[in-house]
Order: sequence, then structure tokens, then C-alpha cells
Amino acid sequence: MTDKEPNDVGRPDEGADSIELSKDEAVTNHAGATSDHRTVNLNPTEEELDAMSRDELVELGTARDGVDVAYRRERFPIPGTRAEKRAERQVSFWFAVSGIAAAALIGVFLFWPWEYKGKDEDGNAAYSLFTPLVGLSFGIAVLVIGVAVVLIRKKFIPAELSIQDRHDGRSPEVERRTLVAELSDALETSTLGRRKMITRTAGAGVGVLGIGALLVFVGGLVKNPWAKGDKSPLWVSGWTPDFPGETIYIRRDTGRPDDIVLVRPEDMDAGAMETVFPWKEKWRGDEHATLQSLRGIRNAVMMIRLRTEDAQKAVKRRGQESFNFGDYFAYSKICTHLGCPTSLFESQTNKILCPCHQSQFLATEWGKPVFGPAARALPQLPITVNSEGFLVANGDFIEPLGPAYWERRS
Ligand code: FES
Repeated sequence: MTDKEPNDVGRPDEGADSIELSKDEAVTNHAGATSDHRTVNLNPTEEELDAMSRDELVELGTARDGVDVAYRRERFPIPGTRAEKRAERQVSFWFAVSGIAAAALIGVFLFWPWEYKGKDEDGNAAYSLFTPLVGLSFGIAVLVIGVAVVLIRKKFIPAELSIQDRHDGRSPEVERRTLVAELSDALETSTLGRRKMITRTAGAGVGVLGIGALLVFVGGLVKNPWAKGDKSPLWVSGWTPDFPGETIYIRRDTGRPDDIVLVRPEDMDAGAMETVFPWKEKWRGDEHATLQSLRGIRNAVMMIRLRTEDAQKAVKRRGQESFNFGDYFAYSKICTHLGCPTSLFESQTNKILCPCHQSQFLATEWGKPVFGPAARALPQLPITVNSEGFLVANGDFIEPLGPAYWERRS
């Protein structure tokens, strides 16, 4: 640490054209400036700026900014010492760890079994680890980059204590030029430019992490969602019959999956809405299938009983004229914007609201969007009442469920 008193190079007085630096001040204000008493012109011309070296620009910028450098010390004034090499290896080590973690992230994303396996199925343990492993490898990759950056700051950037007054408004050209010089000087005095081991491991670590992040977030879009034809996931839900004419009942969620409560028309009042789910008799006794009927991501449906006078005025979409049963209309609960549950029904206006981004759909007009970012109507489920008096599906949805991503055909 220098034994000088904090210098007096505060922000220059308003209107001052120059400031005088002593030798000591010059030394503490930028690396390598050792001239004797001399004057710094605070308002150089364009030509004078062009003629200045980077050190002179740094000195000028420091003086103009009113920066008081109270203390500055190079970390390794003598290059090539063992301590310096050790510090370099430490930083490289952490970047290398980041690269390995990012490579692990890519490996997990590409090769780890991710398809759902029920609790009692083979492969459940591996499936359960997929998300934690993605999170863990991504977290480690990012965290250790942070550790390496902190180490760079502590090991290589010169220790400096500077004091500066704040000022308002846009900086003039001269200040912007001197700032660029100061940043370039900071990079050089950090000595990172000549530390090839660190820059290479940093490049490798951050590069692999970037590829991993890209794979994770973009990889899912590269798949063909229609590869399985009629069995493609976007077409299939719990409402899809396994054979023609299969009865799919409408059940409510009582909070206990094995408590199968089917819905009859008289269970609902006019103006009411209830979230309902599919039920197939063959699922009875199958714990996994019973749970899935309530948890399947495309299964939730809003059963709405309109007031009779509203139902009589309802506008039906071509091809869907018979989808309702009297006053009862059933719409997918998966918002066509980004897939949130459209949980709110305003019975006075017959509007369905999605709380995520405030899209609104009209229950009296085939679920068409009337406000907000959603651009597609909510798919309507055809329903009827069977001979036992239960509300049942009268066929599957005729369009894919969920958000309107680019790969959608309708
Ligand atoms: S997800 Fe429904 S409005 Fe955005």
C-alpha cells in the first residue's frame, strides 16, 4: 500500500480546463504513469485525443471523473512466481469443473431415461432422477463459473480503492473515449490476456455450458411431435377411446383418486362450472390409471351449465353443432396460449378467464378467444347423457389440446 495521503484529484470544479497532478498522484491514478508534476488538460481537442496513449487517456479519464484512487496494488508485480501459477491453476480448475458439469448436463439430457414410469414400474428410480440430475449438473456448471470469476477478481484484478462523486446526464465524447481506455487498461492490468490456461478453460467451460443450455431449452422443439400419427401425444388424452364406442364417463375430483364419483346433469346448477376428468371402467382397480385420470396433463375439462336463455342463444362452430348436451358445454381447461389452467368462469358474462395472462374465452361461442394473447378457441369436448343418466363423452376432441405452438396443425 502506498503511504501517500488520499490525493486531491476530486471531480474538477465546474468550468475548470486543467488539473495539476503531482508525481505521486500520477502513480496512484493509473498503472505505469510516473511523470513529474504536470498539468492534465481536461478538455483536449479531437486531435489531442487521437494523439494520446492509453495511459494518458486513463489518466485523463480518472481526472475528469473526479476519481480519487486512495489505494492500488498489483497482485503479482513480478510475473511468473509460483504463487501466480498456483492462482492460475485454481481458476482453471473451476472452469474445467464447469465444463465437466455442462457436459454431464448434455449427457443426462440426451441419454438419461426421461419417459414417465409409475411407482411400481421398472425404471421408476431412473426416471425419478432425471429432473434432479438436470438441475444438479446445470446448477454446478453455473455455480463454479461464479466461483472462478470471484477467484479472478481476488487473485488477478489489482486491489484498488477509489472514491468518485456521482454526476447526472449523458457523458460527453471525451469521457466515453477515456472510459473505453480505462476498461481496456483494466483488462490488461488484470493480466487475463496473457493467461492462456485460464482463457482456454473459461472458453471451454462456458462454451460447453452454452451448448448444454441450448440443448435443454431448444432440444425439445427439434422433435417431430407428429411422429406417431394418430397416437402422437398432442392428439391423445384420457378422453381418447381405446376402441370405437368405448364409454368414457365424466368424473369429479373429490381429493381421493380411488373415490370414483360420476357426474349427472342434475348435479349442476344453472351458471355453474366444475372441473371434471375422464373415467373408463377398465381403469377400476388400477391404482396408476385411476390416479392418471385426474393427473393426466390434457385431461382436465371445464363442464359448464349455462343458463337456459344463454344456451339457447349460443353460437356453435361448424362441425360442432351437436357437441353440447342441452345447457351443458364442456371445454378443455388447458389454455391455448401457454397451457395454464383456465380456472375462472364468470357466470354473468359467460366468459372463461385464464389467470396467467388474462385471456378470455366465450362459453356461449364455441370457446372462442375474445381478449388477451390466446389466439385459438378452447377445444370443445362432445358430450351426451348415457342410458344410465350419466354425463359421458360423445367422442374425442377433434383438435389438439394445449398451447398453439409453431408445430400445431390446427
Ligand atoms: S396461458 Fe392462458 S393467457 Fe397465457
